Amino acid sequence: MIQTLDKYTGHKKIDGVYQKIINNIPAHKVYYELFAGSASILSLITVPAREIRLNDIDPEVQQLLMDKFPNAIVTNVNAIDTLKITNRENTLQFVDKRDVFLFLDPPYLHDTRTDKELYKYEMQQIDHVKLLTEALQLNCNCMIIHPKCDLYNTMLYDWYKIEIKIRYNRKTSIEFLYMNYPPPTELQCFDYLGSSCWNRQQIKRKGDRLLEKLKKLPVLEQNYLLNRLKELA
Ligand SMILES: C[S@@+](CC[C@H](N)C(=O)[O-])C[C@H]1O[C@@H](n2cnc3c(N)ncnc32)[C@H](O)[C@@H]1O
Repeated sequence: MIQTLDKYTGHKKIDGVYQKIINNIPAHKVYYELFAGSASILSLITVPAREIRLNDIDPEVQQLLMDKFPNAIVTNVNAIDTLKITNRENTLQFVDKRDVFLFLDPPYLHDTRTDKELYKYEMQQIDHVKLLTEALQLNCNCMIIHPKCDLYNTMLYDWYKIEIKIRYNRKTSIEFLYMNYPPPTELQCFDYLGSSCWNRQQIKRKGDRLLEKLKKLPVLEQNYLLNRLKELA
């Protein structure tokens, strides 16, 4: 019986991991997560999307998610069926591709992990094939996280990917973030920008110094510079 979403099995609120994930999430209006679990990434994004949709097949998890994210739409259906319907009915056809961001963190393939039964609802190899088949047809921005394996590397061979090393109980797992979009330049949340703790601090200090300089200028000059900055866009 699950009591709480804190430290939910397979959560991604791990230092060095969540920053890499969030630094690769493009700006969006709709945040969609189909294997939500504790939705730990969503809870770290400080700039919320206009619409948040969460799903987990486990009704107990759904209830906990509804309590934790009262503004989100939370469902408990099979993610693969949802993707199938989305693709068949072309639900996202009229939406700007960049408006919707879909994050998929499914229960990992059994071959890629030591603990085989982590969730009440698990996925077999065939389910992963179905999931990826549907993911390949999506027309919104989609990110999938999964440990290194032939199936994902083969089926998502032309997706942009980055490697992440994750420590679980003293074991290191080599995982990949697979994305069907190029490295984003406009992020939903810039709070964790930087490749390491040190680099993040450097970037923050750079921002603080620049802001201090700007604050000292007369308002009209501040606005002039703000306008000039638009030239960078
Ligand atoms: C790896 S966990 C997600 C962890 C989550 N990213 C977090 O930060 O807590 C995978 C979740 O997928 C759910 N799940 C398993 N099979 C599913 C399916 N077919 N459709 C939707 N959810 C499913 C499980 O109940 C579990 O909560």
